[in-house]
Amino acid sequence: MKTKVGIIFGGKSGEHEVSIQSAKSIYEALDRDKYEPILLGVDKQGVWRLGRDASFILNASNPKLIALNAAAPAVVPVESPGEALALRDPASGSVAEIVDVFFPIMHGTFGEDGSLQGLLKMVDAPFVGASVLGSAVGMDKEVMKRLLRDAGIPTPRFACVRSVRSRLEAAVEGLGLPLFVKPCNLGSSVGISKVKRMQELHPAVERALRFDRKVIIEEAIQGREIEVAVLGNDDPKASVCGEIIPQHEFYSYEAKYIDENGAMLRIPADLPAWISDQVRDLAVKVFKTLECEGMGRVDFFVKPDGTAMVNEINTLPGFTKISMYPKLWEATGLPYPELLDRLIQLALERHGKERALERGAEF
Ligand SMILES: Nc1ncnc2c1ncn2[C@@H]1O[C@H](COP(=O)(O)OP(=O)(O)O)[C@@H](O)[C@H]1O
Ligand SMILES: [Mg+2]
Repeated sequence: MKTKVGIIFGGKSGEHEVSIQSAKSIYEALDRDKYEPILLGVDKQGVWRLGRDASFILNASNPKLIALNAAAPAVVPVESPGEALALRDPASGSVAEIVDVFFPIMHGTFGEDGSLQGLLKMVDAPFVGASVLGSAVGMDKEVMKRLLRDAGIPTPRFACVRSVRSRLEAAVEGLGLPLFVKPCNLGSSVGISKVKRMQELHPAVERALRFDRKVIIEEAIQGREIEVAVLGNDDPKASVCGEIIPQHEFYSYEAKYIDENGAMLRIPADLPAWISDQVRDLAVKVFKTLECEGMGRVDFFVKPDGTAMVNEINTLPGFTKISMYPKLWEATGLPYPELLDRLIQLALERHGKERALERGAEF
């Protein structure tokens, strides 16, 4: 019997369209001898819709117009008494589909921050990627940096504020200029400003506060942007290094999604072995420190003297065939369909181990 893989994508975040593209790539590449893909698109209102073939994704070849088919039936995930998980039609309550393992690829808010992972845990379903804790920790830039700092992993110095009434100048004392001001729990560079003069700080914080209740302000690091893909549960492995070369002031939203030539990817990165070895070791350490499982892309700044600082981890990185995470594995010798296979096996393995745990006290 084929394993039914529920690909969960879309969602209410600003990365809705990117997520559909990631899902489309996964849908196309899954090994049909082993797996039967089930498409679970979450629309911008949060409704889950079920699709069984590619017609569920409209305008599939146009990244700007790509969309879910709103005529597809709505479903909700519910725990079923058997091994697998049921998707029910919310109106009639009848079982619409049974899924064996989920592949969430919903980037950003709700999909990447532990919310979706919590829902899947509640219904006792195996799923790909970090669980609740790793997802939540990886999403919150302040908590992530505190844990890295505690583990002795270099990361830019930072301060956090929750209102513009905070004494901003005092908060950033010692961080110098320029500064990076970011909403704490977002992605895709949304709401991020590079502040070069102190007078720009207040408006930058105000802007970031439109997106999040907590804002992080970081010292700016001058360095190359190097990324490493990590894969595994208890014994995670690092891919070769890749480099992002932004053609803008920094790797902004425009550079990522609007300007087709906004950034160049170089895989593998042109780095001496002693630097790439150090960065890859550090990537695995970051992955473990932040309680990650399955996959994660660790992003660094490598300074001119060769030392590396961690910028962030992405627990559900972009996953189209041309995205950095799959590309890095391909360059390391793991082609896209095999990467998917490995991730699904890791999800099933973890779920099996969790199921084997005792739940109550011993009397
Ligand atoms: N402390 C920093 N020093 C230098 N550049 C930074 C710093 N923080 C962020 N940037 C730039 O901004 C981009 C987006 O920041 P990042 O923290 O990765 O946000 P996101 O989670 O939205 O990707 C980075 O890829 C980099 O180009
Ligand atoms: Mg980033």
